[in-house]
Amino acid sequence: MDDLEGRIAENRPVCAQYYRCRVRLEKPMGNVVPGQFIMIKVPSSAVFLRRPFSIYECGKQTITILYRVTGKGTQALARAGRGERVMILGPLGHGFRVQPGYTPVLVAGGIGIAGLRMLWKQLKGRAHMLYGCATSEEACLLEGVAGGISRVATLDGTTGFAGTVIELLSRHLESIGGRPHIYACGPEAMYASLRSFLAGSGIPCQVLVEERMACGLGLCFGCVKKTVDEVEPYKRACVEGPVFDLWQLSL
Ligand SMILES: Cc1cc2nc3c(=O)[nH]c(=O)nc-3n(C[C@H](O)[C@H](O)[C@H](O)COP(=O)(O)OP(=O)(O)OC[C@H]3O[C@@H](n4cnc5c(N)ncnc54)[C@H](O)[C@@H]3O)c2cc1C
Ligand code: FES
Repeated sequence: MDDLEGRIAENRPVCAQYYRCRVRLEKPMGNVVPGQFIMIKVPSSAVFLRRPFSIYECGKQTITILYRVTGKGTQALARAGRGERVMILGPLGHGFRVQPGYTPVLVAGGIGIAGLRMLWKQLKGRAHMLYGCATSEEACLLEGVAGGISRVATLDGTTGFAGTVIELLSRHLESIGGRPHIYACGPEAMYASLRSFLAGSGIPCQVLVEERMACGLGLCFGCVKKTVDEVEPYKRACVEGPVFDLWQLSL
């Protein structure tokens, strides 16, 4: 893990509220596992704490994130132009552990697609991607995961299946074939429905949790998640996660 200086090479809107930002780093970042994240110091004196983002793409000396503008940190980042300086700490946390012998099924909700994109690329067309979002406008985020088997669900029914991504999963899981292993990234409500749907099925499932974080280094305990571990139930999302076994979490 390094703390690297970078310069914004590109920072452009992908669709309303969503931006993709590519940063050129002063030197290459260490080996990145899909699901790991970075903490970015955004170029604004009004935003003190770094913000965590999944690594969407990692080049030789570049790093790309896909982000949704939600508050003052992401608003400041969206205003940053080419050439502006950012500090990047990473790669951080434990990423996805790909299990051989299974059919990978990636389930993304909204901006959760950012946390699964590297895994999708690594699996090179072997995986199925199910993506759920609110409207057809957000479905454009799927453009980064072209070249495989993907299906989309929108809540308003304007594109693809009308309903949630978990309803979409329930319709297609049987036809996927093989032994499925689910890798998911999305809001907590999506994990709760995933859990109800998968209960008793024995299907393994890893999820990436997007807990609020302050240090990203395991020092502040601001990101703890309760698990079923009887000895040490509280785990830090930034160190023991952000990827957890769904069945280990107390949702
Ligand atoms: C491991 C990890 C990976 C992440 N990857 C991405 C990513 O690839 N793309 C992306 O857009 N976002 C990602 N996030 C969420 C992102 O960090 C937050 O959206 C961001 O920090 C918000 O900063 P802000 O200053 O704009 O918002 P703030 O002003 O801090 O908050 C604005 C609103 O966003 C909510 N919020 C803040 N942090 C989070 C969070 N972690 N999860 C859910 N809601 C939050 C707040 O409750 C508040 O309602 C990730 C978070 C984690 C922990
Ligand atoms: S963010 Fe500080 S311990 Fe995880």
